[in-house]
Amino acid sequence: MKALVLAGGKGSRLRPLTHTSAKQLVPVANKPVLFYGLEAIRDAGITSVGIILGDTGREVRDAVGDGSAFGLDVTYIEQEAPLGLAHCVLIAREFLADEPFVMYLGDNFLVDGITGLVDAFRAAGCDARILLTRVAEPQFYGVAELGPDGEIVGLQEKPEFPRSDLAIVGVYTFSPAIHEAVRAIRPSARGELEITDAIKWLIDTGRSVQSHFVTGYWKDTGRLEDMLECNRMVLEAIEPDVGGSVDGLSDITGRVVIAPGAVVERSVIRGPAVIGADTKIIGSYVGPYTSIGEGCVLDDAEVDYSIVLGESAIRGVSGLTHSLIGRYVEVTRATGVPNTYQLMVGDHSKVQVRA
Ligand code: DAU
Repeated sequence: MKALVLAGGKGSRLRPLTHTSAKQLVPVANKPVLFYGLEAIRDAGITSVGIILGDTGREVRDAVGDGSAFGLDVTYIEQEAPLGLAHCVLIAREFLADEPFVMYLGDNFLVDGITGLVDAFRAAGCDARILLTRVAEPQFYGVAELGPDGEIVGLQEKPEFPRSDLAIVGVYTFSPAIHEAVRAIRPSARGELEITDAIKWLIDTGRSVQSHFVTGYWKDTGRLEDMLECNRMVLEAIEPDVGGSVDGLSDITGRVVIAPGAVVERSVIRGPAVIGADTKIIGSYVGPYTSIGEGCVLDDAEVDYSIVLGESAIRGVSGLTHSLIGRYVEVTRATGVPNTYQLMVGDHSKVQVRA
């Protein structure tokens, strides 16, 4: 069995970060979200992995390499434009050959991994087994409708009027029958070849398509709120580990990881939180559910429930919360009068200030 990991696409909901970097590489507890997926694939006993790349392909290649760091053998497949999830299957035909495979959307995060799904698919010998979970806002997802015996009777892609609250999770298992399906379907109204339509085609042509419920926690990390929530979930379970230096005037409580090379002086860190390698936290407060990347500086700053990527600096600013701060960002206090905000923010940024 092989795996096809989708790491192309646009990432428009996480702009401006995704103007310059892949959304699948935004870190959760200081580890790219894509890496959790690759580890889940390996843990399910799969080693041959094709990764679909888009505009940010170079960055994904640099991060994943040949896959050996994960115990995987990775083949890269370039997609000329984000033409849809089923288009990814179409262009991966040669790599997938005639083997069954698991398709994993690179921005999806499953706490319990995918071994349960993969094992059940292997045992069932069906043409597709898809993963479902109940959600509060099904209109943002693919939606499945089940019959009285749990069989799938209908599928919709991001419907205005969802027929159920069962969202299709971004991990699918397929037999080679899916290749015929992706060739048979036409682009949707949004111009993409939808995998939901391909699965519907399998059902309509009498193939066996089964459903599988997610155990544990799942998130599509495509939106800021989901990203922060995912970070919270992972941090809840981290093992405390202080590898960096912490002075006697600092107070570290709860689950806190301080990576080697990090320095904490005159500060309060209330976990769960992670502090990346070579980061300096000086006279600052880092509150619960916060991940600070590597090489950052927090000086006279207060941050909680946030993700700060590497090499950024926050100086003289308190009250930062629910924030996603990119790389090489500087957040500092404006001094003097009048009392002003001075901003230089990228396209599609979101800034909320106290009026
Ligand atoms: O997360 C689950 C949802 O994923 C399902 O409920 C939907 O049925 C399914 O269509 C999909 O919806 P999204 O709108 O979340 O898909 P998105 O465009 O974000 O793409 C998912 C991943 O696949 C993402 O990592 C980018 C990558 N991708 C996407 C497209 C359209 C590609 O590599 N190539 C593409 O052409």
